[in-house]
Amino acid sequence: MAEAQHAISEAKHDEKAGSWEPKIVGFLCNWCSYAGADLCGVSRYQYPTNIRTVRVMCSTRISPHIVLDLFKAGADGILLGGCHIGDCHYISGNFYTEKRVRLMKKLLEDAGVDPSRLRLEWVSASEGEKFSKVVTEFTDHVRKLGPSAVKKQEAAKAKVMAADDASVTFRLRALVGKEYNLETKGNVYKNTLDKAELEKLIDVATMDEFERSLILVLAKGKSRSVKELGSIMEVPTDKVLRHIVVLRQKNLISMEHPEGFTPTYRTIEIGGEQ
Ligand code: FES
Repeated sequence: MAEAQHAISEAKHDEKAGSWEPKIVGFLCNWCSYAGADLCGVSRYQYPTNIRTVRVMCSTRISPHIVLDLFKAGADGILLGGCHIGDCHYISGNFYTEKRVRLMKKLLEDAGVDPSRLRLEWVSASEGEKFSKVVTEFTDHVRKLGPSAVKKQEAAKAKVMAADDASVTFRLRALVGKEYNLETKGNVYKNTLDKAELEKLIDVATMDEFERSLILVLAKGKSRSVKELGSIMEVPTDKVLRHIVVLRQKNLISMEHPEGFTPTYRTIEIGGEQ
């Protein structure tokens, strides 16, 4: 997504010049929202110039990794636009988009980023005026929230980095990828699962994966004790220890020589020194 990354670099340049303006990246599906944005333009509806749009074939093309990577790069807001439910040109694409957006918002929340910095809207090809309203409202909202903390605070950046790493774990990708089918078609035994139960299960898995990824980010290049990790992450030490056990089983973290009686842990870097 080079276009989106370019928009963020432009934003950083503007900030150095001392004038902060929210920089928003919009991903619009080719068949509805992008056509709606086009109609907005030819109909002469006005909207703020803070948004840089990227055309994608379907809203479901946007993975959580793309969105979190842009927040990591310092985006102030991201708008996803797609066809109305039932109108997706790939039949069920936007059903999957809804599930993914829920995961992205949960990860943003876990990382301490206001989830309302990410907005999903259905805009059809005939809704030029709606596109203008959505962009105007969203820009005003992001302006009120202020610049993303990721740009100035290393701690905030580390958390978004962990959220991004968590989004690509096999467990979360598999759960969210199957969520829609489990709800509508059921599992291999044709048993459909309850939506609320499934969401609860995914929320717990999301929090676990986020915390494990944060441990790996914090212990990269620096050995840390369970107590230290717990206090930085504001997570009880017994929970941190449970995560460490899982990470050690996966060979992602190693135990360093104990200092006195306290072992410390360091992330195993592929191709690098432990
Ligand atoms: S084609 Fe528009 S959301 Fe899928």
